[in-house]
Amino acid sequence: MATDSLFKVLPREAKDGTTGTVNISFDGKALRVPQGVSVAAALLAAGIERFRTTPVSGAARAPYCMMGVCFECLVEIDGVANRQSCLVPVAEGMAVRSQLGMRELNDLVTSAGGARDER
Ligand code: FES
Repeated sequence: MATDSLFKVLPREAKDGTTGTVNISFDGKALRVPQGVSVAAALLAAGIERFRTTPVSGAARAPYCMMGVCFECLVEIDGVANRQSCLVPVAEGMAVRSQLGMRELNDLVTSAGGARDER
């Protein structure tokens, strides 16, 4: 069931006189999004509705709390998986990818500072 987005981008002007936008990509698609907001807010403003899928059923998920509590906004940012996009400021040139299903165990170990198992 499709619904209208509850989010709207309010008009804003950048302090430094720039356009107030940055260029990023999401799943390889180029997007121009507002600067000075979180990655989650930027993607929602661009109309992105699916940020990740669940490991068990593959159900689509998108940000819910926008404050670091629900973990529904997990994405891969510049090659690092499992980032809470509501807590990361958007920046020029970011490559964001949706996070599909469960991450590899080695990704979990290395992101926690452990050594990668090459067996
Ligand atoms: S939207 Fe809830 S943790 Fe990011």
